[in-house]
Amino acid sequence: MVRKLTPRELRQRRATIKFGKIFTALSVGLWFLSSIPYIFIRVGTFLDNKGLLGEAPWTIKSKEMCGEQREKNAEGRVVVVTGANSGIGYEAAKTLALLNAEKVVLGCRSKGKCEYSKAMIDAERLELCFKGQEKDFTSNVIDPSLSLDLGDLDAVKKWAESLSAQEGVDYVTDLVLNAGIMSTPLEPRNPGTGLENQLHTNHVAHFYLTSLMLPLLESVSALEGAVKDSKVVTIASLAAQSPFSYSLSDINFTSGRSFSSLTAYSQSKRANLLFAQHLHSTLSPKGIKSLAAHPGYTRTNLFHNNWHFLPKQLDFIKDIASENTLFSMSSYDGAMMTVRSILDVNIPSGSYVTPAMYATGTPVVSRPKVSKWWNPGYKDGVIMYPFMENVWSWIWGGFSFKDEDVKGLNEFTEKVTGVKIE
Ligand SMILES: *[C@@H]1O[C@H](CO)[C@@H](O)[C@H](O)[C@H]1NC(C)=O
Repeated sequence: MVRKLTPRELRQRRATIKFGKIFTALSVGLWFLSSIPYIFIRVGTFLDNKGLLGEAPWTIKSKEMCGEQREKNAEGRVVVVTGANSGIGYEAAKTLALLNAEKVVLGCRSKGKCEYSKAMIDAERLELCFKGQEKDFTSNVIDPSLSLDLGDLDAVKKWAESLSAQEGVDYVTDLVLNAGIMSTPLEPRNPGTGLENQLHTNHVAHFYLTSLMLPLLESVSALEGAVKDSKVVTIASLAAQSPFSYSLSDINFTSGRSFSSLTAYSQSKRANLLFAQHLHSTLSPKGIKSLAAHPGYTRTNLFHNNWHFLPKQLDFIKDIASENTLFSMSSYDGAMMTVRSILDVNIPSGSYVTPAMYATGTPVVSRPKVSKWWNPGYKDGVIMYPFMENVWSWIWGGFSFKDEDVKGLNEFTEKVTGVKIE
């Protein structure tokens, strides 16, 4: 027997149903909103792979490995990669070795790691390219006897000198400034320069290494072989656009600017872009190109090893950042920006090679463009990412740079390292 509800009970029940409806609508709405970037990226990646976002997607098919197809071929190239033991550095080094590079020189902070990378790359090349002709195999991967610790400028110098003195490297066609640390604490600072660690390792040490490698890069133009172009590829990051992160006047976090490890990371990555522009203006007249590239959002252990700012309870965010496959690319796909920068001889110096879909996608080439009047504070500057010029460069003023930004950073870095690149 059903009891008749009192008016009060009736009101309560109606309220419960109404609340349920609102709750459901909100959850569905939130779910829908949160999936928009996902749909955007997936649809975009699909269109990109079909070649519908402009030029045909730049990829390497497995049949192009081992140098059987002439078009994408690293023959004659001598490539130096810093941070070659993991992530996109490792994948780029491996791909170039499989594309028959003359030599791929691995730079790793700790010794055993390069040894392991070399063994892995050699094994894969033997398996893929020398099946049945194992006795013809000679390795094209060099694991230098010294390790490349970017934290220590003296060690950088010894490493660079050892390449020609001990490792038989007498020219370098491509220098890839790839190694990076992320979100490290302010203290202790770098023991050598006293600088904030990310600026030291990601920018200053790479500046110093580049200055030491110049003779090897310069000797390429005099070579007999087919490869005449040499280049420096600087790996930046989406973080370089982060607004309010870069401050030349307090670049070392000593004049009261509040420190956040992510701000400092973004600053070091902006420094990478400015440095690439400096190299473009000084080296391209000498026949050495300077390109910058960024890997978008690639799942690498950069998040795991470096996000020290997270409290223990939030450690799972590192797992999400380094393992979620929804929004991110694999290290191999992320390494394609580097690989295209090296192999595509038609890219002009000063370009920025980026994923077609902002955070993911195949590599596309952006040319710096003069900023428009609506770009606050950067009216006479240059925009590094023309693809997003209208929307993003307005919101993130940090996309743009001026000549004096490039000059100011260069003077600072010359002072710290005691060397000039001109
Ligand atoms: C950076 O700041 C630290 C701490 O104040 C200082 O010891 C160091 O000399 C500074 N380095 C440079 C290159 O300005």
